[in-house]
Amino acid sequence: MCGIAGYAGSKQVTPVLIGSLKRMEYRGYDSAGIAIVNNGSIAVLKDSGRVDRIAEKISNRMTGGNLGIAHTRWATHGEVSQDNAHPHTSCNSEVAVVHNGIIENFQELVATLRAEGHHFRSQTDSEVIAHLLERSYQRLADPVKALQEALRELIGSYALVVVFHDRPDLMLGARKDAPLIVGVGNGENFIASDILAFIDHTDRVIFLEELEMVTVTSQSVELMKLDGTRIEREITHVAWEAADVSKEEFAHHTLKEIHEQTRSLRTALLQDEKSLDSFVSNIKNAKNLYITSCGSSFNIGLLLKHLLTKLCKIPAQAFVSSESDEYIDLMDRDTVVIAISQSGETADLLKAVSDARGRGAKVLSIVNSVGSTLSRKSSVNLYLNCGPEVGVAATKSFTSQLVLVYEVIFRIAGMHSKRNALRDVSSAIEQIFMQEEKIRSIAGVLKLFNDVYFIGRGPHYPIALEGALKLKELSYIHAEGMAAGELKHGTLALIDKGTPAVVINPHDETFNDTLSNASEMRARGATVVGISSINNELYDYWIPIPETDPFLQPILEVLPLQLLAYYTALERHNDPDHPRNLAKSVTVK
Ligand code: AGP
Repeated sequence: MCGIAGYAGSKQVTPVLIGSLKRMEYRGYDSAGIAIVNNGSIAVLKDSGRVDRIAEKISNRMTGGNLGIAHTRWATHGEVSQDNAHPHTSCNSEVAVVHNGIIENFQELVATLRAEGHHFRSQTDSEVIAHLLERSYQRLADPVKALQEALRELIGSYALVVVFHDRPDLMLGARKDAPLIVGVGNGENFIASDILAFIDHTDRVIFLEELEMVTVTSQSVELMKLDGTRIEREITHVAWEAADVSKEEFAHHTLKEIHEQTRSLRTALLQDEKSLDSFVSNIKNAKNLYITSCGSSFNIGLLLKHLLTKLCKIPAQAFVSSESDEYIDLMDRDTVVIAISQSGETADLLKAVSDARGRGAKVLSIVNSVGSTLSRKSSVNLYLNCGPEVGVAATKSFTSQLVLVYEVIFRIAGMHSKRNALRDVSSAIEQIFMQEEKIRSIAGVLKLFNDVYFIGRGPHYPIALEGALKLKELSYIHAEGMAAGELKHGTLALIDKGTPAVVINPHDETFNDTLSNASEMRARGATVVGISSINNELYDYWIPIPETDPFLQPILEVLPLQLLAYYTALERHNDPDHPRNLAKSVTVK
């Protein structure tokens, strides 16, 4: 999704904004640009392509100025082009804006503004904001009033930052259905769509809530409602630092974050007891229980559903957030909804949560980002504590979510002895990393195929789904995750000579039935990769999983699948940190 950033301070603004652009690359983008206010005018440099390429042009041409805005664009309206890149300026270039979100009524607004003589340079929805501001600013000569008037015309979602040619120390921000955060520095301040944009400068942040705006100078931050009512809000100190987002000795953030799981599984268990107790009691007392999330987080939701039903005998309905319409009308004040998310900003999820709350439901969340929109809409939050996840693919956040799921399940089921096993599982992970070279060699086989199948039963079925998702999003190979028992109901027809089949087959009660499925596939020529604590002649390749408590095998078996996807991406010369067409946090519907 788009990344937006702004700086007001005493430093040369261009290097600061280029640093922000680089920090926001992980969000996924196709073009980037900056605008700086200097000597009474606004200079803009933007283009399609990678930040590195644009940064060189910017550094040579954009000197001077201590205030500016920056943007990484993930195209929603309009092709990938220089004209469609942000920042967008008004006709007279007296106003510049960067925007994340979707303006739903932009065509009507463009028609009205064109009729008034405005000329547009791009095909985007965002540019209309610059022209609305120009019209109001010329008449009102007051930046705050001009922004308030412009915002009243917008229908849709926005996180935006605007600057004015004749206000060299002022930037304004506003948010509706998209995150916006102020970074508070010493003699300098920042605005951005996420903390990482300014993590090199400050970890003191102020989160904007829905329908709020902010005026920011190098010396001041003034928060207000859209009607201008002043708001006082505490500064939050986020326990993230620049080191968290450096690749260190790893080739990619994705690989670093896969390896960080030996630590992140332990920090996931550092939970506030009161929050855990409240989370558990809300589930126990719920008259009806729903689970909603997207992508990898939905695979966790399916596993949570399985464990609630099988271990706790508590029925729950899990649904992908984009399909929430089917369930919302069933919700009421006796409903509890468990929302699972790494970013806490996924638009589909936030919509489902907002609708559920509208029906009186109570929302509990398992989330990584402190201060995220989801965390502020939830009654109880369990935080992943895994630090920023920069790779687009969910890796450490997935296993941290899973650990928290087990912590909750074992408390509900009274299986307190299992909680010790949960603390030991992180040491078992190291044994899987000893298989890394073998996994890399198997990736050399998978890269040759266009279809790969992942199968598992019971709690391993969601892990099969996750393995397929990882392989798809990193290697661009089509992959299907499925319940092993479903093979003979159709998919077996697709198994041909050599077809790779990843069989998730730990030594638990699913072992024999899943082995039979492996046999069915092998008999039809499949190349079987066995993920199991014991080898078997049916496996062409065996990735050993340490024998741990059977309940905890899903935590371990997902790691080789993450590594398999990562190395297959490398084998196919993809950039694992920036998979094509994808964004780290899908903040638009
Ligand atoms: C998973 O690797 C993807 N990055 C994606 O499916 C992700 O899990 C999904 O977009 C949900 O994101 P969230 O956990 O931040 O809500």
